[in-house]
Amino acid sequence: MFDGVDLHALASAVQTPCYAYSATAIRQRIAGLQAAFKGLDHRICYAVKANSNLAILQLMAQHDVGADIVSAGELHRSLRAGIPAERIVFSGVGKTAEEVDAALTAGVWRFNVESHDELHVLQQRAAMHGVCARAAVRINPDVDAQTHAKISTGKAENKFGVSIDEARRWFDEAAGMSHVRLDGLHAHIGSQILSLDPFRRALRRVEDFRRELVDSGHVIGSIDIGGGLGVAYRPGLDRPIPVQDYAALVRETFADFRGTVVLEPGRYLVGEAGVLLTRVVRVKEGEGRHFLVLDAAMNDLLRPSLYDAWHDIVPLHEGRETVRYDVVGPVCETGDTFARDRALPRCRAGDLLMITGAGAYGASMSSTYNSRPLAAEVLLDDGRYAVVRRRQTLAEMMAGEQLPQAWNET
Ligand code: LLP
Repeated sequence: MFDGVDLHALASAVQTPCYAYSATAIRQRIAGLQAAFKGLDHRICYAVKANSNLAILQLMAQHDVGADIVSAGELHRSLRAGIPAERIVFSGVGKTAEEVDAALTAGVWRFNVESHDELHVLQQRAAMHGVCARAAVRINPDVDAQTHAKISTGKAENKFGVSIDEARRWFDEAAGMSHVRLDGLHAHIGSQILSLDPFRRALRRVEDFRRELVDSGHVIGSIDIGGGLGVAYRPGLDRPIPVQDYAALVRETFADFRGTVVLEPGRYLVGEAGVLLTRVVRVKEGEGRHFLVLDAAMNDLLRPSLYDAWHDIVPLHEGRETVRYDVVGPVCETGDTFARDRALPRCRAGDLLMITGAGAYGASMSSTYNSRPLAAEVLLDDGRYAVVRRRQTLAEMMAGEQLPQAWNET
């Protein structure tokens, strides 16, 4: 049972592979975070990239959670799901002029600006639209988030943000900008962070810089502390930061700050609230290895292939002896491996398994590689379920493709 729904019945009704998300679990995470920050002027802007299904975004909207977006596509989704523009922050190193236009037209709350060139694009586009864009500078605080290299963003060598030295120059320059109000600081140092120390170091740098700016006459209205709170992929082994401790650190660090603290959690709100349901296609005996071949693959859940990420694999049957399996998908890549040498109760073709911790960066990172249609997604809520993305059909998968009909010359 997951959020009161029988997963065997669900898998029969919806077929596999299929993502299932618990609305109850997501609501609990939202409420827990809101409670931890109660009394502090703050806004939670959910990082849409973690799980951008419209139903998940609608759940956020229903609980006054805004959005942290990184593309015009995420803007479109967020607005469609009912998240008001004034609760949307726009991050990302490569915002195009068209995307800036779309965000200005929608009236998003603020832009997290990541380069000097972008600051000028913003000024120019805002002037064209006759509006004043509110902006924060994304600081690269040069701290090691102590997480996987591919999801670290706060080291000087990463592409994200700018140094404090550069940011200092921006504030002097922006004072003369007619259509940009630069009055915010932003820092996001990485993802799946399980220790407070990197946050402590990064936030301290941000706060020291804020004080320096205020001393030199600048006004800072918001500090965006990014996302990054880790979750327990290995329950009992991974020890996520208690959200109260995180909130206490924020309160303490910014005790002198009179403005809005912005949070951009993604994984924390949805990661543990989702599972990927999959069936065993067959068991294959290899040279000294037992392969468990699933109907889910790296195109459905990329994290194990891309980051060697651990996800628990839980068969929904018991009472059989333990076998050590290499758990793989059907895609033609050796990297299409969910786990190696994983101890599981013996499995047979047709058995149902769930891959846990799949609510964040699961469906949102999926593709149709090997021409495998996108999996279905289902929202569960206290004993009921609703399909919130039907399984892609082959026709939908190929929509937009066409054989060359007319050849153009440039
Ligand atoms: N804010 C910004 C500016 C971000 O770039 C991200 C994530 C977040 C917030 C949310 O971070 P979270 O709270 O979810 O850690 N695909 C990877 C994670 C990439 C994260 C990218 N940025 C994974 O599956 O682990």
